[in-house]
Amino acid sequence: MITLDFTNMMTARGLTPEDINSLKDRLKIIHADITRKKNREFHFLDLPSENTEQLSLIADNVKNTSDFFLLLGIGGSALGPKAILQALKPFYNLKHSPKIFIYDNVDPGTLTSILSIVDLKRTTVNVVTKSGSTVETMASFLILMNALKEVHGDKFSKRIIATTDPEKGALRELSAKTGFRTLPVPPDVGGRYSVLSPVGLLSSSVAGINISGLLKGARDMLKKCSNEDLWKNPAYMTASLMYLLDKKKKRNISVLLPYSDRLKTFSEWYCQLWAESLGKNGAGQTPYPSLGTTDQHSQLQLWIEGPADKVVTFIKIDDYGSDMLISKEDSGSMGYLKNHSLGELIKAEQEATELALQKAGVPNMRLNVPMIDAYYTGQLFLFFELVTAVTGLLYGINPFDQPAVEEGKNLTYGIMGRKGYEQKGLEVSNYRDKLQKSRYKI
Ligand code: PA5
Repeated sequence: MITLDFTNMMTARGLTPEDINSLKDRLKIIHADITRKKNREFHFLDLPSENTEQLSLIADNVKNTSDFFLLLGIGGSALGPKAILQALKPFYNLKHSPKIFIYDNVDPGTLTSILSIVDLKRTTVNVVTKSGSTVETMASFLILMNALKEVHGDKFSKRIIATTDPEKGALRELSAKTGFRTLPVPPDVGGRYSVLSPVGLLSSSVAGINISGLLKGARDMLKKCSNEDLWKNPAYMTASLMYLLDKKKKRNISVLLPYSDRLKTFSEWYCQLWAESLGKNGAGQTPYPSLGTTDQHSQLQLWIEGPADKVVTFIKIDDYGSDMLISKEDSGSMGYLKNHSLGELIKAEQEATELALQKAGVPNMRLNVPMIDAYYTGQLFLFFELVTAVTGLLYGINPFDQPAVEEGKNLTYGIMGRKGYEQKGLEVSNYRDKLQKSRYKI
């Protein structure tokens, strides 16, 4: 089981047991709300127990019929699948087929490059959008759908799998009309909490990842985090520590620091989850996606001597699955490395960085991960999702919505001439006129 060590949060510049106990009553209420699923969005906790038969059949069919698998999505509809693939099948495309591309932007250069690589005759497109209307995803999808039509004629729809709301949305309607295969994104599960649904599981299954292990890990973590007593519940404890360090000590930047290249995209997934869930009504910590040891030579100076506003969460890996002896020879000034391995070095660096931060009074904690496999990756996903939801409830905000994202979307619709958004278009024109006349230009 993954374990949490938060000793270095409980230091002179950190927190006291009394601080933590001050949240006991509130956490009791939150625990009761989670247990009886007061918010329907707590459905994400049930995902690890849901049936995956249909998606496994679809994945088998993709493997038999395709050399390329192109997932189109953005935000919660792309970061989870990307994080799983990097954690569990690093360098997948160099060694395996179907080659998997996850495209989560509208940069024409990138899509042109992808289209120059894939053979559309042997490509399956998985369009992932819960709402079925996200402009970035749907714009790329229209391009791919038309391209598939040109290659496959009437049979193009067999090359498309739509992962979307089971009942509503433009993509659901189009799927019903055109006959795409579909997989559901449960309506009660927000995009950034959907990694353990078909959103993250189809591409994983196509890549041959052990999705049962992933889900079992998540279920076991949920069990471990079901204790009402926060001193025995790592998710409630982490949420309490983060909330208190922000509120009481102004530690408003959360650095996630895994010591594994394989968890680099996991850090990005965490950042979206933390930022979009908690940044509301003036609340929230800014997440920073980091990587050990790389960022010791980029960020560590700032964390130690810069503003005292950061809290660092280490992810330490016990077993890297392989190791390499650095040298059997005594090589001069590097002689101290003789008979040591890379695994030893990365662990030494993690420990040294932890101690350096502790000595400088930077609150930090550590998740000890036995190894990066499907089971422990599932534990990590469930853990951070629950921590995020509970932290949001401690702030007194809704961790499941993202109202501030809407304005940018609506203004984009105005610029692109969508019907019903004429007023937004006008606002943009006025803004452009104002900028044209601005004095503050060099
Ligand atoms: O977490 C969220 O809800 C968002 O980041 C969404 O995942 C993102 O906006 C994409 O939405 P959709 O899946 O509806 O295309």
